[in-house]
Amino acid sequence: MKAKMKFAAPSTILGDLLVVLAVDRSRSKEKNVLAEPVLLTSDAEVRRAAESVLKSGEFRANLCETLLLHAPVGVLAKRLLLVGLGKADKASAADLRKAAGAAVRFAKPRGLREVTIVLPEPDIRAFPLAASTRVALEGAYVGDFDPDTYRSDRKDQALETCSIVAPAPDKLTPGIKEAVERAFREGTVIGEAQNFTRALVNEPGNTLTPTEMGKRAAAMCKQQGLTCEVSSTEKIKELKMGAFWSVAQGSAEAPALIVMTYEPEELLPDAPVLGLVGKGITFDTGGISIKPADNMEKMKYDMAGGAAMLGAMQAIAQLQPLVKVICVVCAAENMPGGKAQKPGDVQVSMSGKTIEIINTDAEGRLVLADGLAYAKQLGATHLIDAATLTGACVVALGHINAGVFANEEATFQRFQKALEISGERFWRLPLDEEYREMIVSQIADIMNTGGRWGGASTAAIFLKEFVGETPWLHLDIAGTAWIDEQKPWIAKGPSGIAVRSILEWVRSFDDVAQPADSVTAG
Ligand code: BES
Ligand code: MN
Ligand code: ZN
Repeated sequence: MKAKMKFAAPSTILGDLLVVLAVDRSRSKEKNVLAEPVLLTSDAEVRRAAESVLKSGEFRANLCETLLLHAPVGVLAKRLLLVGLGKADKASAADLRKAAGAAVRFAKPRGLREVTIVLPEPDIRAFPLAASTRVALEGAYVGDFDPDTYRSDRKDQALETCSIVAPAPDKLTPGIKEAVERAFREGTVIGEAQNFTRALVNEPGNTLTPTEMGKRAAAMCKQQGLTCEVSSTEKIKELKMGAFWSVAQGSAEAPALIVMTYEPEELLPDAPVLGLVGKGITFDTGGISIKPADNMEKMKYDMAGGAAMLGAMQAIAQLQPLVKVICVVCAAENMPGGKAQKPGDVQVSMSGKTIEIINTDAEGRLVLADGLAYAKQLGATHLIDAATLTGACVVALGHINAGVFANEEATFQRFQKALEISGERFWRLPLDEEYREMIVSQIADIMNTGGRWGGASTAAIFLKEFVGETPWLHLDIAGTAWIDEQKPWIAKGPSGIAVRSILEWVRSFDDVAQPADSVTAG
Protein backbone atom coordinates (compact mmCIF):
# COMPACT_ATOMS: atom_id res chain seq x y z
CA MET A 1 0.00 0.00 0.00
CA LYS A 2 1.28 3.39 -0.98
CA ALA A 3 0.16 6.37 1.07
CA LYS A 4 -0.55 9.82 -0.34
CA MET A 5 -1.34 13.14 1.26
CA LYS A 6 -3.73 15.55 -0.44
CA PHE A 7 -4.87 19.04 0.40
CA ALA A 8 -8.12 19.66 -1.47
CA ALA A 9 -11.87 19.80 -1.24
CA PRO A 10 -13.03 16.16 -0.93
CA SER A 11 -15.68 16.45 -3.65
CA THR A 12 -13.00 17.42 -6.21
CA ILE A 13 -10.95 14.24 -5.73
CA LEU A 14 -11.19 11.51 -8.37
CA GLY A 15 -11.03 7.90 -7.27
CA ASP A 16 -12.79 4.62 -6.52
CA LEU A 17 -13.85 5.27 -2.97
CA LEU A 18 -14.13 8.48 -1.00
CA VAL A 19 -14.45 7.80 2.73
CA VAL A 20 -16.19 10.37 4.93
CA LEU A 21 -16.64 9.97 8.67
CA ALA A 22 -19.80 10.62 10.61
CA VAL A 23 -20.81 10.86 14.26
CA ASP A 24 -24.00 10.05 16.05
CA ARG A 25 -25.22 13.16 17.84
CA SER A 26 -28.40 11.78 19.40
CA ARG A 27 -28.26 12.11 23.17
CA SER A 28 -29.04 9.24 25.48
CA LYS A 29 -31.52 11.47 27.34
CA GLU A 30 -33.61 11.90 24.25
CA LYS A 31 -33.65 8.21 23.41
CA ASN A 32 -36.66 8.41 21.21
CA VAL A 33 -35.50 11.39 19.23
CA LEU A 34 -33.11 10.01 16.69
CA ALA A 35 -31.12 12.93 15.47
CA GLU A 36 -29.47 12.59 12.08
CA PRO A 37 -25.83 11.59 12.10
CA VAL A 38 -23.47 14.43 11.27
CA LEU A 39 -20.88 14.19 8.51
CA LEU A 40 -17.45 15.40 9.58
CA THR A 41 -16.73 17.43 6.49
CA SER A 42 -17.46 21.00 5.53
CA ASP A 43 -17.59 20.06 1.84
CA ALA A 44 -21.06 21.17 0.69
CA GLU A 45 -21.17 18.77 -2.29
CA VAL A 46 -20.37 15.75 -0.14
CA ARG A 47 -22.92 16.82 2.45
CA ARG A 48 -25.58 17.21 -0.24
CA ALA A 49 -24.78 13.81 -1.75
CA ALA A 50 -25.30 12.14 1.63
CA GLU A 51 -28.23 14.26 2.75
CA SER A 52 -31.14 11.98 1.93
CA VAL A 53 -29.58 8.80 3.25
CA LEU A 54 -28.68 10.54 6.51
CA LYS A 55 -32.30 11.67 6.83
CA SER A 56 -33.59 8.16 6.12
CA GLY A 57 -32.30 6.77 9.43
CA GLU A 58 -30.74 3.76 7.66
CA PHE A 59 -27.30 4.76 8.89
CA ARG A 60 -26.75 5.47 12.59
CA ALA A 61 -23.00 6.24 12.53
CA ASN A 62 -22.20 3.57 15.08
CA LEU A 63 -18.49 2.87 15.36
CA CYS A 64 -17.29 1.23 12.11
CA GLU A 65 -20.80 1.09 10.65
CA THR A 66 -20.57 1.60 6.88
CA LEU A 67 -22.91 2.80 4.15
CA LEU A 68 -22.01 2.89 0.48
CA LEU A 69 -23.37 5.30 -2.10
CA HIS A 70 -22.64 4.82 -5.81
CA ALA A 71 -22.17 7.68 -8.25
CA PRO A 72 -22.69 10.40 -5.64
CA VAL A 73 -24.03 13.54 -7.34
CA GLY A 74 -21.62 16.49 -7.23
CA VAL A 75 -18.71 14.31 -6.05
CA LEU A 76 -15.99 13.29 -8.49
CA ALA A 77 -15.16 9.97 -6.78
CA LYS A 78 -17.07 6.92 -8.07
CA ARG A 79 -18.30 5.93 -4.64
CA LEU A 80 -18.90 7.58 -1.31
CA LEU A 81 -18.50 5.48 1.83
CA LEU A 82 -19.84 6.79 5.11
CA VAL A 83 -18.11 5.32 8.16
CA GLY A 84 -19.39 5.84 11.70
CA LEU A 85 -17.28 7.03 14.60
CA GLY A 86 -19.96 6.46 17.23
CA LYS A 87 -21.30 9.05 19.67
CA ALA A 88 -20.15 12.60 18.91
CA ASP A 89 -19.05 13.37 22.47
CA LYS A 90 -17.17 10.08 22.90
CA ALA A 91 -15.45 9.66 19.54
CA SER A 92 -11.68 9.46 20.05
CA ALA A 93 -8.47 9.14 18.09
CA ALA A 94 -8.59 5.39 18.74
CA ASP A 95 -12.03 5.31 17.09
CA LEU A 96 -10.70 7.14 14.05
CA ARG A 97 -7.92 4.57 13.78
CA LYS A 98 -10.51 1.81 13.80
CA ALA A 99 -12.84 3.58 11.36
CA ALA A 100 -9.99 4.08 8.87
CA GLY A 101 -9.12 0.39 9.18
CA ALA A 102 -12.77 -0.54 8.67
CA ALA A 103 -12.91 1.58 5.50
CA VAL A 104 -9.87 -0.22 4.09
CA ARG A 105 -11.28 -3.61 5.04
CA PHE A 106 -14.54 -2.64 3.36
CA ALA A 107 -12.70 -1.86 0.12
CA LYS A 108 -10.40 -4.89 -0.05
CA PRO A 109 -12.80 -7.78 -0.68
CA ARG A 110 -14.79 -5.62 -3.13
CA GLY A 111 -11.82 -5.28 -5.44
CA LEU A 112 -11.34 -1.59 -4.76
CA ARG A 113 -7.62 -0.87 -4.76
CA GLU A 114 -7.69 2.76 -3.97
CA VAL A 115 -9.18 4.52 -0.97
CA THR A 116 -9.34 8.20 -0.09
CA ILE A 117 -10.01 9.03 3.55
CA VAL A 118 -11.27 12.51 4.37
CA LEU A 119 -9.94 13.78 7.71
CA PRO A 120 -12.62 14.73 10.25
CA GLU A 121 -13.31 18.42 9.84
CA PRO A 122 -14.52 21.04 10.74
CA ASP A 123 -11.86 20.82 13.40
CA ILE A 124 -13.49 19.04 16.33
CA ARG A 125 -11.62 18.98 19.63
CA ALA A 126 -10.99 15.24 19.48
CA PHE A 127 -9.56 15.42 15.98
CA PRO A 128 -6.83 18.01 15.43
CA LEU A 129 -5.76 17.64 11.79
CA ALA A 130 -2.16 16.53 12.26
CA ALA A 131 -2.90 13.91 14.91
CA SER A 132 -5.84 12.65 12.84
CA THR A 133 -3.64 12.31 9.77
CA ARG A 134 -1.30 10.03 11.61
CA VAL A 135 -3.99 8.01 13.32
CA ALA A 136 -6.02 7.54 10.12
CA LEU A 137 -2.93 6.29 8.29
CA GLU A 138 -2.00 3.92 11.11
CA GLY A 139 -5.52 2.53 10.98
CA ALA A 140 -5.41 2.18 7.20
CA TYR A 141 -2.15 0.20 7.36
CA VAL A 142 -3.53 -2.00 10.11
CA GLY A 143 -6.64 -2.69 8.00
CA ASP A 144 -4.60 -3.43 4.89
CA PHE A 145 -2.81 -6.43 6.40
CA ASP A 146 -4.12 -9.96 5.81
CA PRO A 147 -2.41 -13.10 7.07
CA ASP A 148 -3.20 -15.44 4.14
CA THR A 149 0.42 -15.56 2.95
CA TYR A 150 0.53 -19.22 1.98
CA ARG A 151 -2.94 -19.75 0.50
CA SER A 152 -2.80 -20.99 -3.09
CA ASP A 153 -6.00 -19.09 -3.83
CA ARG A 154 -4.60 -15.96 -2.23
CA LYS A 155 -6.00 -12.95 -3.97
CA ASP A 156 -3.64 -10.20 -3.15
CA GLN A 157 -6.19 -7.69 -2.07
CA ALA A 158 -3.77 -5.19 -0.63
CA LEU A 159 -4.57 -1.61 -1.55
CA GLU A 160 -2.53 0.16 -4.18
CA THR A 161 -2.97 3.58 -2.63
CA CYS A 162 -4.54 5.12 0.38
CA SER A 163 -4.88 8.89 0.26
CA ILE A 164 -5.54 11.11 3.22
CA VAL A 165 -7.33 14.36 2.51
CA ALA A 166 -6.93 17.57 4.49
CA PRO A 167 -8.61 20.86 3.56
CA ALA A 168 -7.10 22.95 0.74
CA PRO A 169 -4.03 24.94 1.89
CA ASP A 170 -5.86 28.29 1.78
CA LYS A 171 -8.29 26.94 4.37
CA LEU A 172 -5.54 26.05 6.84
CA THR A 173 -4.04 28.20 9.57
CA PRO A 174 -0.31 28.85 9.05
CA GLY A 175 1.96 26.01 10.08
CA ILE A 176 -0.76 23.36 10.01
CA LYS A 177 0.13 22.09 6.55
CA GLU A 178 3.69 21.36 7.68
CA ALA A 179 2.45 19.66 10.85
CA VAL A 180 0.08 17.52 8.78
CA GLU A 181 2.89 16.58 6.40
CA ARG A 182 5.09 15.56 9.31
CA ALA A 183 2.27 13.50 10.78
CA PHE A 184 1.71 11.90 7.39
CA ARG A 185 5.31 10.75 7.28
CA GLU A 186 5.10 9.42 10.84
CA GLY A 187 1.89 7.54 10.11
CA THR A 188 3.46 5.91 7.07
CA VAL A 189 6.60 4.90 8.94
CA ILE A 190 4.66 3.56 11.92
CA GLY A 191 2.06 1.73 9.81
CA GLU A 192 4.76 0.02 7.77
CA ALA A 193 6.74 -0.88 10.89
CA GLN A 194 3.70 -2.42 12.57
CA ASN A 195 2.91 -4.49 9.48
CA PHE A 196 6.54 -5.58 9.19
CA THR A 197 6.23 -6.93 12.73
CA ARG A 198 2.91 -8.62 11.95
CA ALA A 199 4.32 -10.33 8.87
CA LEU A 200 7.17 -11.75 10.96
CA VAL A 201 4.82 -12.97 13.70
CA ASN A 202 2.57 -14.56 11.09
CA GLU A 203 5.37 -16.74 9.69
CA PRO A 204 5.25 -20.36 10.80
CA GLY A 205 8.04 -21.90 12.85
CA ASN A 206 9.41 -23.82 9.90
CA THR A 207 10.02 -20.71 7.79
CA LEU A 208 10.92 -18.25 10.52
CA THR A 209 13.64 -20.15 12.34
CA PRO A 210 15.98 -18.21 14.65
CA THR A 211 18.51 -18.07 11.80
CA GLU A 212 15.88 -16.68 9.44
CA MET A 213 14.79 -14.11 12.02
CA GLY A 214 18.42 -13.02 12.19
CA LYS A 215 18.52 -12.70 8.39
CA ARG A 216 15.36 -10.61 8.32
CA ALA A 217 16.77 -8.35 11.02
CA ALA A 218 20.03 -7.93 9.12
CA ALA A 219 18.18 -7.17 5.87
CA MET A 220 16.01 -4.55 7.59
CA CYS A 221 19.05 -2.95 9.23
CA LYS A 222 20.94 -2.85 5.95
CA GLN A 223 18.02 -1.16 4.26
CA GLN A 224 17.55 1.35 7.07
CA GLY A 225 21.20 2.08 7.77
CA LEU A 226 21.34 0.51 11.24
CA THR A 227 24.28 -1.41 12.60
CA CYS A 228 23.42 -5.08 13.00
CA GLU A 229 25.32 -8.05 14.30
CA VAL A 230 23.82 -11.52 14.22
CA SER A 231 25.70 -14.29 15.96
CA SER A 232 24.94 -17.80 17.16
CA THR A 233 26.03 -20.65 19.43
CA GLU A 234 29.71 -19.77 19.54
CA LYS A 235 29.16 -16.17 20.62
CA ILE A 236 26.39 -17.16 23.05
CA LYS A 237 28.82 -19.56 24.74
CA GLU A 238 31.65 -17.04 24.63
CA LEU A 239 29.46 -14.48 26.41
CA LYS A 240 28.56 -17.20 28.94
CA MET A 241 24.86 -16.79 28.24
CA GLY A 242 24.01 -20.01 30.03
CA ALA A 243 20.32 -19.18 30.40
CA PHE A 244 19.82 -18.35 26.73
CA TRP A 245 21.80 -21.42 25.65
CA SER A 246 19.84 -23.71 27.99
CA VAL A 247 16.75 -23.04 25.89
CA ALA A 248 18.52 -23.28 22.54
CA GLN A 249 20.39 -26.51 23.36
CA GLY A 250 17.33 -28.73 22.85
CA SER A 251 16.80 -27.76 19.24
CA ALA A 252 18.49 -28.74 15.98
CA GLU A 253 17.96 -25.13 14.89
CA ALA A 254 20.81 -22.81 15.80
CA PRO A 255 19.87 -19.84 18.02
CA ALA A 256 20.42 -16.26 16.90
CA LEU A 257 21.65 -13.40 19.04
CA ILE A 258 20.57 -10.28 17.19
CA VAL A 259 22.06 -6.92 18.18
CA MET A 260 20.95 -3.77 16.36
CA THR A 261 22.20 -0.28 17.09
CA TYR A 262 20.89 3.16 16.26
CA GLU A 263 23.13 6.08 17.16
CA PRO A 264 22.46 9.71 16.31
CA GLU A 265 25.28 12.21 16.15
CA GLU A 266 26.01 14.88 18.72
CA LEU A 267 24.84 13.34 21.95
CA LEU A 268 25.71 14.63 25.41
CA PRO A 269 28.42 12.54 27.08
CA ASP A 270 26.02 11.36 29.79
CA ALA A 271 23.01 10.99 27.48
CA PRO A 272 20.78 7.99 28.16
CA VAL A 273 21.22 4.81 26.14
CA LEU A 274 18.05 2.81 25.65
CA GLY A 275 18.19 -0.97 25.69
CA LEU A 276 15.38 -2.79 23.88
CA VAL A 277 15.21 -6.53 24.54
CA GLY A 278 12.89 -8.96 22.78
CA LYS A 279 11.87 -12.58 23.36
CA GLY A 280 12.33 -14.35 20.04
CA ILE A 281 11.15 -17.90 20.66
CA THR A 282 10.32 -18.89 17.08
CA PHE A 283 8.43 -21.91 18.37
CA ASP A 284 7.62 -22.90 21.93
CA THR A 285 6.79 -26.58 22.39
CA GLY A 286 7.42 -26.21 26.11
CA GLY A 287 10.54 -28.36 25.86
CA ILE A 288 10.66 -31.46 28.10
CA SER A 289 7.81 -29.91 30.15
CA ILE A 290 5.90 -30.25 26.89
CA LYS A 291 2.71 -28.32 26.18
CA PRO A 292 -0.60 -30.05 25.40
CA ALA A 293 -1.31 -30.50 21.66
CA ASP A 294 -4.41 -28.27 21.69
CA ASN A 295 -3.49 -24.84 20.34
CA MET A 296 0.21 -25.60 20.35
CA GLU A 297 0.36 -24.40 16.73
CA LYS A 298 -0.18 -20.89 18.03
CA MET A 299 3.19 -20.96 19.75
CA LYS A 300 4.74 -19.77 16.48
CA TYR A 301 3.87 -16.31 17.77
CA ASP A 302 6.17 -16.68 20.77
CA MET A 303 8.64 -14.40 18.99
CA ALA A 304 6.17 -11.48 18.91
CA GLY A 305 8.17 -9.49 21.49
CA GLY A 306 11.32 -9.81 19.39
CA ALA A 307 9.38 -8.95 16.24
CA ALA A 308 7.95 -5.86 17.95
CA MET A 309 11.52 -4.75 18.66
CA LEU A 310 12.45 -5.25 14.99
CA GLY A 311 9.47 -3.14 13.93
CA ALA A 312 10.30 -0.46 16.48
CA MET A 313 13.93 -0.36 15.27
CA GLN A 314 12.78 0.06 11.67
CA ALA A 315 10.64 3.04 12.69
CA ILE A 316 13.43 4.45 14.89
CA ALA A 317 15.84 4.32 11.95
CA GLN A 318 13.38 6.31 9.85
CA LEU A 319 12.19 8.82 12.43
CA GLN A 320 15.66 9.47 13.89
CA PRO A 321 14.98 10.24 17.54
CA LEU A 322 17.79 12.04 19.38
CA VAL A 323 18.79 9.13 21.58
CA LYS A 324 21.01 6.09 21.22
CA VAL A 325 19.18 2.75 21.08
CA ILE A 326 20.63 -0.74 21.42
CA CYS A 327 18.29 -3.62 20.63
CA VAL A 328 18.94 -7.23 21.63
CA VAL A 329 16.70 -10.05 20.38
CA CYS A 330 17.31 -13.55 21.69
CA ALA A 331 15.95 -15.97 19.11
CA ALA A 332 15.73 -19.71 19.76
CA GLU A 333 13.41 -22.66 19.42
CA ASN A 334 12.19 -24.36 22.61
CA MET A 335 12.28 -28.08 21.77
CA PRO A 336 12.35 -31.38 23.66
CA GLY A 337 15.40 -32.88 21.90
CA GLY A 338 17.88 -35.42 23.26
CA LYS A 339 20.09 -32.54 24.29
CA ALA A 340 17.28 -30.51 25.81
CA GLN A 341 17.58 -29.21 29.34
CA LYS A 342 15.60 -31.04 32.01
CA PRO A 343 13.62 -29.94 35.05
CA GLY A 344 16.06 -29.88 37.95
CA ASP A 345 18.99 -28.73 35.81
CA VAL A 346 20.90 -25.74 37.12
CA GLN A 347 22.05 -23.08 34.68
CA VAL A 348 24.55 -20.28 35.16
CA SER A 349 23.32 -17.07 33.55
CA MET A 350 25.52 -14.42 31.97
CA SER A 351 25.18 -12.29 35.11
CA GLY A 352 26.57 -15.16 37.19
CA LYS A 353 23.25 -15.82 38.93
CA THR A 354 22.35 -19.50 39.02
CA ILE A 355 18.91 -20.73 37.98
CA GLU A 356 17.20 -23.99 38.89
CA ILE A 357 14.98 -25.08 36.02
CA ILE A 358 11.63 -26.19 37.42
CA ASN A 359 9.68 -26.05 34.19
CA THR A 360 11.34 -25.94 30.77
CA ASP A 361 8.23 -24.18 29.44
CA ALA A 362 9.21 -21.05 31.37
CA GLU A 363 11.85 -20.41 28.71
CA GLY A 364 11.11 -16.82 27.78
CA ARG A 365 12.45 -15.43 31.05
CA LEU A 366 15.64 -17.48 30.54
CA VAL A 367 16.50 -15.95 27.17
CA LEU A 368 15.48 -12.50 28.43
CA ALA A 369 17.65 -12.83 31.55
CA ASP A 370 20.75 -12.96 29.37
CA GLY A 371 19.37 -10.48 26.84
CA LEU A 372 18.80 -7.90 29.58
CA ALA A 373 22.23 -8.52 31.11
CA TYR A 374 23.83 -8.14 27.70
CA ALA A 375 22.00 -4.90 26.91
CA LYS A 376 23.31 -3.53 30.22
CA GLN A 377 26.83 -4.67 29.39
CA LEU A 378 26.54 -2.87 26.04
CA GLY A 379 25.79 0.35 27.91
CA ALA A 380 22.02 0.58 28.28
CA THR A 381 20.98 3.01 31.01
CA HIS A 382 17.24 2.34 30.58
CA LEU A 383 15.70 -1.01 29.62
CA ILE A 384 12.46 -2.11 28.04
CA ASP A 385 11.61 -5.69 27.14
CA ALA A 386 8.68 -7.19 25.29
CA ALA A 387 7.65 -10.82 25.48
CA THR A 388 4.75 -13.23 25.11
CA LEU A 389 5.80 -14.30 28.56
CA THR A 390 2.98 -15.80 30.60
CA GLY A 391 -0.40 -17.46 30.28
CA ALA A 392 -1.08 -15.90 33.70
CA CYS A 393 -1.04 -12.45 32.12
CA VAL A 394 -3.69 -13.63 29.65
CA VAL A 395 -5.79 -14.93 32.56
CA ALA A 396 -5.45 -11.60 34.37
CA LEU A 397 -6.05 -9.17 31.51
CA GLY A 398 -7.60 -11.21 28.71
CA HIS A 399 -7.00 -10.03 25.18
CA ILE A 400 -7.88 -6.40 25.91
CA ASN A 401 -4.88 -5.06 27.81
CA ALA A 402 -1.26 -6.09 27.72
CA GLY A 403 0.66 -6.14 31.00
CA VAL A 404 3.34 -3.66 31.96
CA PHE A 405 5.73 -3.85 34.91
CA ALA A 406 8.14 -1.15 36.03
CA ASN A 407 10.81 -0.93 38.72
CA GLU A 408 10.88 2.86 38.76
CA GLU A 409 8.19 5.55 38.68
CA ALA A 410 9.61 8.14 36.29
CA THR A 411 10.18 5.52 33.60
CA PHE A 412 6.67 4.21 34.06
CA GLN A 413 5.22 7.74 33.78
CA ARG A 414 7.14 8.23 30.59
CA PHE A 415 5.68 5.02 29.22
CA GLN A 416 2.17 6.07 30.18
CA LYS A 417 2.62 9.30 28.27
CA ALA A 418 3.76 7.27 25.29
CA LEU A 419 0.53 5.25 25.51
CA GLU A 420 -1.50 8.43 25.08
CA ILE A 421 0.08 8.81 21.67
CA SER A 422 0.27 5.16 20.66
CA GLY A 423 -3.30 4.40 21.68
CA GLU A 424 -2.27 0.92 22.83
CA ARG A 425 -3.68 -0.43 26.07
CA PHE A 426 -1.31 -1.62 28.78
CA TRP A 427 -2.25 -2.19 32.42
CA ARG A 428 0.30 -2.00 35.19
CA LEU A 429 0.76 -5.17 37.22
CA PRO A 430 2.53 -5.45 40.59
CA LEU A 431 6.16 -6.20 41.25
CA ASP A 432 6.30 -6.26 45.07
CA GLU A 433 9.45 -7.68 46.67
CA GLU A 434 7.40 -10.46 48.28
CA TYR A 435 6.98 -12.14 44.90
CA ARG A 436 10.68 -12.86 44.99
CA GLU A 437 10.23 -15.27 47.88
CA MET A 438 8.21 -17.44 45.53
CA ILE A 439 11.22 -18.07 43.27
CA VAL A 440 13.89 -18.74 45.88
CA SER A 441 15.60 -22.08 45.15
CA GLN A 442 17.16 -24.64 47.53
CA ILE A 443 20.01 -25.49 45.22
CA ALA A 444 20.53 -22.31 43.21
CA ASP A 445 19.92 -18.57 43.49
CA ILE A 446 16.47 -18.63 41.94
CA MET A 447 14.03 -20.99 40.25
CA ASN A 448 12.56 -20.28 36.83
CA THR A 449 8.95 -20.63 38.02
CA GLY A 450 7.15 -19.54 41.15
CA GLY A 451 4.28 -21.94 41.55
CA ARG A 452 0.71 -21.57 40.51
CA TRP A 453 -0.32 -18.10 41.65
CA GLY A 454 0.65 -14.66 40.42
CA GLY A 455 2.47 -16.09 37.43
CA ALA A 456 2.83 -12.81 35.53
CA SER A 457 4.39 -11.13 38.58
CA THR A 458 6.73 -14.00 39.48
CA ALA A 459 7.96 -14.01 35.87
CA ALA A 460 8.54 -10.27 36.08
CA ILE A 461 10.36 -10.50 39.42
CA PHE A 462 12.56 -13.18 37.86
CA LEU A 463 13.54 -10.71 35.12
CA LYS A 464 14.12 -7.99 37.69
CA GLU A 465 16.99 -10.08 39.11
CA PHE A 466 18.93 -9.41 35.91
CA VAL A 467 18.05 -5.75 35.62
CA GLY A 468 19.26 -4.59 39.02
CA GLU A 469 18.89 -0.87 39.62
CA THR A 470 18.60 0.09 35.95
CA PRO A 471 15.22 1.73 35.22
CA TRP A 472 13.25 -0.94 33.39
CA LEU A 473 9.89 -1.70 31.81
CA HIS A 474 8.64 -5.20 31.07
CA LEU A 475 5.80 -5.67 28.58
CA ASP A 476 3.94 -8.99 28.76
CA ILE A 477 2.07 -9.24 25.44
CA ALA A 478 1.03 -12.91 25.62
CA GLY A 479 -2.68 -12.06 25.45
CA THR A 480 -2.57 -9.28 22.87
CA ALA A 481 -0.02 -10.28 20.24
CA TRP A 482 -2.50 -12.56 18.47
CA ILE A 483 -6.11 -11.68 17.67
CA ASP A 484 -8.41 -14.72 17.74
CA GLU A 485 -11.44 -13.06 16.20
CA GLN A 486 -11.40 -10.64 13.32
CA LYS A 487 -12.75 -7.14 13.89
CA PRO A 488 -14.10 -4.70 11.29
CA TRP A 489 -10.75 -2.88 11.37
CA ILE A 490 -8.28 -5.73 11.74
CA ALA A 491 -7.84 -9.28 10.48
CA LYS A 492 -7.57 -12.27 12.74
CA GLY A 493 -3.92 -13.03 13.46
CA PRO A 494 -0.87 -11.04 14.55
CA SER A 495 -1.67 -7.61 16.01
CA GLY A 496 1.71 -5.88 16.02
CA ILE A 497 1.08 -4.78 19.63
CA ALA A 498 3.82 -2.80 21.38
CA VAL A 499 5.60 -1.46 18.27
CA ARG A 500 3.92 1.94 18.55
CA SER A 501 4.32 2.25 22.33
CA ILE A 502 7.98 1.23 22.35
CA LEU A 503 8.64 3.73 19.57
CA GLU A 504 6.89 6.59 21.40
CA TRP A 505 8.70 5.76 24.61
CA VAL A 506 12.00 5.96 22.75
CA ARG A 507 11.02 9.22 21.04
CA SER A 508 10.08 10.73 24.39
CA PHE A 509 13.79 10.77 25.33
CA ASP A 510 14.46 13.46 22.73
CA ASP A 511 14.20 16.02 25.52
CA VAL A 512 17.14 14.73 27.57
CA ALA A 513 19.62 13.29 25.11
CA GLN A 514 21.02 16.22 23.16
CA PRO A 515 22.82 19.49 23.89
CA ALA A 516 20.11 22.13 24.40
CA ASP A 517 21.05 24.28 21.40
CA SER A 518 20.88 21.41 18.93
CA VAL A 519 17.39 20.54 20.19
CA THR A 520 16.15 24.04 19.37
CA ALA A 521 18.07 24.03 16.08
CA GLY A 522 16.46 20.73 15.04
N1 BES B 1 5.05 -18.61 25.55
C1 BES B 1 4.47 -19.00 26.77
C2 BES B 1 3.43 -18.00 27.30
C3 BES B 1 2.20 -17.82 26.47
C4 BES B 1 1.01 -18.40 26.86
C5 BES B 1 2.20 -17.02 25.35
C6 BES B 1 -0.13 -18.21 26.13
C7 BES B 1 1.05 -16.83 24.63
C8 BES B 1 -0.12 -17.41 25.03
C9 BES B 1 5.55 -19.15 27.85
O1 BES B 1 6.78 -19.55 27.39
C10 BES B 1 5.07 -20.19 28.80
O2 BES B 1 4.95 -21.30 28.39
N2 BES B 1 4.80 -19.80 30.04
C11 BES B 1 4.33 -20.71 31.01
C12 BES B 1 5.10 -20.48 32.27
C13 BES B 1 4.83 -21.48 33.34
C14 BES B 1 5.44 -22.82 32.94
C15 BES B 1 5.42 -21.00 34.63
C16 BES B 1 2.84 -20.40 31.24
O3 BES B 1 2.47 -19.24 31.26
O4 BES B 1 2.09 -21.36 31.34
MN1 MN C 1 6.97 -21.64 27.26
ZN1 ZN D 1 7.22 -19.08 25.45
